[in-house]
Amino acid sequence: MKNDLKQRENWTTRLGFILAAAGSAVGLGNIWRFPYVTGTNGGAAFLFIYLIAIIIIGYPLMVTEMTLGRKSQRNPVGAFKSLAPNSPWWLVGGLGVLTGFVILSYYSVVAGWSLAYIFKALSGFTPDMAFGELFGAHISGVAVPIFWHAVFMIITIGVISAGVVKGIQRAVKTLMPILFILLLVLIFRSVTLEGAGEGLTFYLTPDFSVITWQTIMDAIAQAFFTLSLGMGAMITYGSYLSEDANIGDNAAYVVGLDTLIAVLAGFAIFPALFAVTDVSPSAGPGLTFITLPAVFAEMPLGSFFGFLFFVLLSVAALTSAISLLEVVVAWAVDEKDMERKKASIIIGIIIFLVGIPPVLGYSAWSGFSFIGFDILDSYDWIANSIFLPLGGLLTAIFAGYVWKAKNLQDEANKKSGVINIGAWYGFLIKIVVPIAIAVVMIVSIVQTFTG
Ligand code: PHE
Repeated sequence: MKNDLKQRENWTTRLGFILAAAGSAVGLGNIWRFPYVTGTNGGAAFLFIYLIAIIIIGYPLMVTEMTLGRKSQRNPVGAFKSLAPNSPWWLVGGLGVLTGFVILSYYSVVAGWSLAYIFKALSGFTPDMAFGELFGAHISGVAVPIFWHAVFMIITIGVISAGVVKGIQRAVKTLMPILFILLLVLIFRSVTLEGAGEGLTFYLTPDFSVITWQTIMDAIAQAFFTLSLGMGAMITYGSYLSEDANIGDNAAYVVGLDTLIAVLAGFAIFPALFAVTDVSPSAGPGLTFITLPAVFAEMPLGSFFGFLFFVLLSVAALTSAISLLEVVVAWAVDEKDMERKKASIIIGIIIFLVGIPPVLGYSAWSGFSFIGFDILDSYDWIANSIFLPLGGLLTAIFAGYVWKAKNLQDEANKKSGVINIGAWYGFLIKIVVPIAIAVVMIVSIVQTFTG
């Protein structure tokens, strides 16, 4: 294979890798999805379960994916092929590539809404505006949302075609600090509003009576999505790591940063929500695009903070989207011998086209419904509630029983760090992770189809 002769690119600094992986993790999942899922699931109690899922499922799987990538120096399909040759395990990697494809197609549509809202904020949010109608009118358009979806895909393709160091690493090194600063500014604004305390109470005082199987499933699905796990994004990023990287520490940084940013996004959103409006935090997916602009409209300098917020959201989405495209492009480059630039463009265009039905689901194809979901939500449901947990389950079984937890431990610990992977890892990856995912997936699927 001609790519075996080529030197594989490596992250040039440890920070470069951590920011890239954290950039993948921090995205719409943290700023758009996490607050509304928390809001619809009752606030603090959900936050608590989510944090447990992050620790006992998220962290071990993060270590697993990074180690599989570093060891094999391959994309997800190649990783499974090289560690278990002549077996069907490569299909798990194949499912990951497919999942990346599906997620990016609708992710880019939502990111496109965010780009459009940067300009809506600039032209001013005023208290008398009907934000629900504004959002409805925006998404039920055809040309405008498709235009912004295209703009977002073009930027993503631009970064990925420039390569791992010159594209991804360079982009995240500028974008991630910007994201962090914007978020801090917004939190400061939010918690200093009069009446912010009520939002803090909702966010921080758990009421465990609201927890159901669905809450637990939502927490696990959110953990997968937000950490970019279950589809090989971290296998792919790990494949550009060199031997002298310690996995236990790097994984902890990435999981820690992602969790910190999600929790902080809650601090930016809930206090403002309760302080300024009487809208319920359980507004659902529209929270970011309907409720928040209404919140911004009510506060001093609101249009400016609204503008900052949508820049933040778009930046976060971009650093995640590049990792989604990278998974598919790495597969095409390693396995299909394609040239990177060509692969980025062709695959990017196909993903753009697959993203058009979710746009049309709010206009021409609004009659479509699958178990009560429109097209975009159906893509989201299949990817997040089925593909990611299934991918994570199979990856855990592979690591624990096929490649064996002990081998993975040795590979991860090649260079020792503060956190070394000990025997606890085998217990989590062989028993806790698979059982937790399997039980919750089965219950939740049964419930979805039986109402
Ligand atoms: N983690 C990203 C987010 O929170 C989404 C994502 C999922 C990115 C899977 C890559 C892989 O928005």
